[in-house]
Amino acid sequence: MLKYGPPLNFPRWLEDNSHLLKPPVGNRQIWSDADFMVTVVGGPNGRSDFHDDPVEEFFHQFKGNAHLLLWDSDRYERVDLKEGDIFLLPPHTLHSPQRPEPGSLCLVVERRRPAGERDAFQWSCAHCGHVIQRHEVLLQSIVDDLPPLYERFYASDEEARRCSRCGEVHPGRDHQAWHSQLDSKRSGR
Ligand SMILES: [Fe+2]
Repeated sequence: MLKYGPPLNFPRWLEDNSHLLKPPVGNRQIWSDADFMVTVVGGPNGRSDFHDDPVEEFFHQFKGNAHLLLWDSDRYERVDLKEGDIFLLPPHTLHSPQRPEPGSLCLVVERRRPAGERDAFQWSCAHCGHVIQRHEVLLQSIVDDLPPLYERFYASDEEARRCSRCGEVHPGRDHQAWHSQLDSKRSGR
């Protein structure tokens, strides 16, 4: 039997789910309970958290443009995902997807996590890159497991968001403010 059903017509699936592929939801997993977690992610969406994924992530940016902010080799780096690009992200590569374009669409494929392998989400200092908070999770469901973790960070007070290395305060929920901190550091202000 075909556990995951017959083939789907992808353009039709996109049309049927278009209301979910924009804010406030912004993503939709195609098949549940499969080893391949196949998700379509739409813009606009911005964030300041970095994801430490124990498995590889495959990206196909099939409509519009986006980029990944990486924390790699002790510095922030930008990887552009231009329309038509495919990209394979190695495991445990700290990444923060940025999808500023309304209507942009990306197909993301991850594997179900091997038993006991933890994902982590972390918030880092825009000024020096030092980790401010890191929360690990045995990820079962992208939909159910992540919101409480984000809320925990957003609810933490200013002292809990202060960089212990340079004193900069992470703005918390306001991801645009965090990106502004990063930009002003880059331009030397
Ligand atoms: Fe810092």
